[in-house]
Amino acid sequence: MSSHNTTHDADDDERNRDIVIYVNGELKHRDEATVSVYDSGFMLGDGMWEGLRLYDGVWAFFDEHMDRFFDSCKAVSLDVGMDRAGIFDALEKTRAANRMETDVHCRLMLTRGVKAKPFQHPSLSRSGPTLVIIMEHSKPVNRLQSEGIKLATVPQVRGLPMSQDAKYNSHSKLNCVIACLQAEQAGADEALMLDPHGFVNTTNACNFFIVRKGTVWTSTGDYCMNGVTRQKVIDVCRNDGIPVFEKNYSLYEAYGADEAFLTGTFGAQTPVESIDGKPIGKGRRPVTARIREKYKELIGQQIEMHQ
Ligand SMILES: Cc1ncc(COP(=O)(O)O)c(C=O)c1O
Repeated sequence: MSSHNTTHDADDDERNRDIVIYVNGELKHRDEATVSVYDSGFMLGDGMWEGLRLYDGVWAFFDEHMDRFFDSCKAVSLDVGMDRAGIFDALEKTRAANRMETDVHCRLMLTRGVKAKPFQHPSLSRSGPTLVIIMEHSKPVNRLQSEGIKLATVPQVRGLPMSQDAKYNSHSKLNCVIACLQAEQAGADEALMLDPHGFVNTTNACNFFIVRKGTVWTSTGDYCMNGVTRQKVIDVCRNDGIPVFEKNYSLYEAYGADEAFLTGTFGAQTPVESIDGKPIGKGRRPVTARIREKYKELIGQQIEMHQ
């Protein structure tokens, strides 16, 4: 396959060669950090994760990430084995061991743990959960902002909540991976996924917004990840007097948008250059820039609060 931009492209950083990784309380060099082949996460994708970001020593929106994480674990009867203060300590332990301060991305992963037999039943996971924390030095490449992302609409949808609720940040991301493959095979960087009714929904790894005549639109939120960044963008718009709507809309309105952008913890707001080969807007992105500025201010406030 040819190489593509991805929404999570970061500058190469030599320091990542020797990071240590948290595995159930122990810190191990990345080359030695392993989990069992019997682990529920490996075998079944039976686990939940969070992507968090460190800015100037502060885990941005930690409470919101923990709200989602603990709700998801509760919903699938996955006992975290510690409270959010325990998770915070584990993050800080890993951060200190890696002497990390800013521009760090963290993947916090919890699975149902090691299984007694290689079968599906959750009761076979008897030895407690597996908690892994990977932290990397990670600065989004400038190209993401200067060029933006090419999207392709794909046949794979994010489904109804009674199949696998799109709000689960589960280890199994096959639904999203299939969408991403379809987009890549169509020559794009990321997939624009519709909802089961054909309305514009989300992308395979981020949430999706459009701007039309100074108003900001995103999907109803019923069929997509309840993104922390998505909610912060909505809040920023409300506080700044930018009209923002969570509503149904179709590709017709997305293709004709003045601006479009993706949201996620890694890239904050990443502009969309084109959808299905149709350029979005005329290269100027004043509303996206304004939102990005205000989002940065929000992170600045978090840093100040913790100092
Ligand atoms: C499918 C999907 N959509 C959107 C997001 C963005 O969520 P957040 O803004 O909380 O990083 C993620 C991140 O994990 C995701 O996996």
